[in-house]
Amino acid sequence: MYVPQLPGSVPILKNLYAMRTAPLATLSRGLRECGDVAYVEFPGHSGHMLFNPDHVRAVLVDNAKRVSKNTPGFAALRLLLGNGLVTSDGAFWLRQRRIAQPAFHRAKIYALGARMVELTERTADEWSRAAEGQTPVDVADSMMRLTLRIVSDTMLALDIDKDAAEVGRSISFLLHELNERIVRPYLPPLSWPIPRNQRFNAAREHLKTIIAKAIRDKRANPDSKGGDFLRMLIEARDEETGEGMDDQQLLDEVGTVFAAGHETTANLLAWTWAWLARFPAARRALQRELDEVLGDRLPTAEDYPKLPYTRMVLSESLRLSPPVWLISRRVEQPIDLGDGLVLPAQSMVFLSPYVTQRHPRYWTDPEGFDPERFTEARSAGRPTFAYFPFGGGPRKCIGDTFALVEATLVLATLARRFEPSLPVGGNPVPEPVITLRPKGGLPMVMRTRGQS
Ligand code: HEM
Repeated sequence: MYVPQLPGSVPILKNLYAMRTAPLATLSRGLRECGDVAYVEFPGHSGHMLFNPDHVRAVLVDNAKRVSKNTPGFAALRLLLGNGLVTSDGAFWLRQRRIAQPAFHRAKIYALGARMVELTERTADEWSRAAEGQTPVDVADSMMRLTLRIVSDTMLALDIDKDAAEVGRSISFLLHELNERIVRPYLPPLSWPIPRNQRFNAAREHLKTIIAKAIRDKRANPDSKGGDFLRMLIEARDEETGEGMDDQQLLDEVGTVFAAGHETTANLLAWTWAWLARFPAARRALQRELDEVLGDRLPTAEDYPKLPYTRMVLSESLRLSPPVWLISRRVEQPIDLGDGLVLPAQSMVFLSPYVTQRHPRYWTDPEGFDPERFTEARSAGRPTFAYFPFGGGPRKCIGDTFALVEATLVLATLARRFEPSLPVGGNPVPEPVITLRPKGGLPMVMRTRGQS
C-alpha cells in the first residue's frame, strides 16, 4: 500500500525539522493531507503516524506484545525516570506493574479524596487573597504546585510545600531539556562536563535527593500516616526469591510516580480553566451542577459519580488539550494492519491523541469545546480509540482514576468559589514539550463568584 509522507520534509533532518518547529500543526496537516496514515522519516529511523482509531487499538491492544518502548522519546525519558513503570518493558515491567497496581484501586483513591480537598483549600486561600487585590494568578504554576502537593502527600507521605517552587522549576527545565534531546539527537551525551549538562544533572540530583529522603523516612517509620503507595513498594517481595527492590529501583519507581503523577494532571487542570474562561456556557453549566449537588459544602470522593457535567468538562479538556499528545513505540515484530499495510520490524510507530481526538470523521465541530459530546447518547457509535488521553491496552496509564478523581475534586472545590477570566488576547498557546503545556504560563484573573 502506498503511504504518503508527512508534509514538510527537508534534506538531512527530513521530518524532524517540522516536528521540532511546529509539531502540532505538522501532525494536523498530516491528517488533512495524507489521511489516516503518514510515513515519517527522521535521521536514523523511520516509521508511521497512525491517526485511525482502529490502528490505535491494533498497536496498543491487539499487538501490544509486538511493540516496545525502545524509542528515542523513551530513551530521553529514561535519563530522568530511569527504569520505572513508564519506561521499562517486558517481564520486568509486568512484575513492577503488578506490585504497584493495588495502590491504584478505586477504593484506595476514594479514601484519599478528603485529603485532596483539604490540600486544594490552600490554593483557594491563595486565590482569595489574589482576588481581593485583583492580582492575576499564574494558573499553570498554581495547578502544578497543587498537584505536586497532592501526589507527594497522598502517595509518598512527603510534605513538599517548602520545596514546591524549586521542584516545579526543576521539572519544567528537565522536560524542556529532554525534549531538546529528542528533537536534537546530535546534542553531546550527558556525561560531557559542559554547563548545559551540569545544569541538567544538578536539577536531576535535586529531585533524587527529595525522593530518597521520602523513601528513608518511610522505611524508618512505615506506620506513619499516608504514603500507602510508597510503603507497598518498600514492602514488596519477589515471590520466588523473597527479595525486595533495590534502592535504585525504588528510586526509579517513586520518581516516576512523583513526576508522572503531577505534571500531567496539572496541565489538564490548567487547560480546563482556560477552556472554561473561553466558553462561558460550559462554565455556567458547571457552576449550576456544583450549586445543585454541593450547595455550600465541600465535595467528597463520594460526589465523584454525582458530578457528571464536571467530569464531562474534564473529558472535553482532555480531548482538546491532551497532556500526552504523542505516544511512540518501536515495532519489534511486523504488524499487519490490513488493506496491504504492514508495519515492518524495527520501524517506529506514532499515535497522537491530539490529532485523533480532533479527527473530523469522529468528532463534529472538532475545535469547539462541547462537554456534552461525552453524554452516553452522543458517544454511541464512536470508536473507543477515537479518544485515548490515557493510552490503552496493558500500558494504559495506571493513574487514570487517581487523576480523574483528583481533577474532579480540585475543579469542584475551586469552581464553586472562583470564576476564571483570561486577559484580552491572552488565549494560551500549547507548547508540546513531552507534555502539552500552556506556553509561558497561564496568567488569569480568578474572581470570587458573585462579585463582578
Ligand atoms: C491527566 C492526567 C494523566 C494523563 C493524561 C496521563 C497519561 C498517560 C498516558 C497516555 C500513559 C501511557 C503512555 C504510553 O502508552 O506510552 C500513561 C502512563 C502512565 N501514567 Fe499517566 N497520565 C495521567 C496521570 C497520571 C497519574 C496521576 C499517575 C500516578 C499517580 C500516572 C502514572 C502513570 C504511570 C506509572 C504510567 C506507566 C504505566 C505502565 O506503562 O504500566 N499518570 N499516562
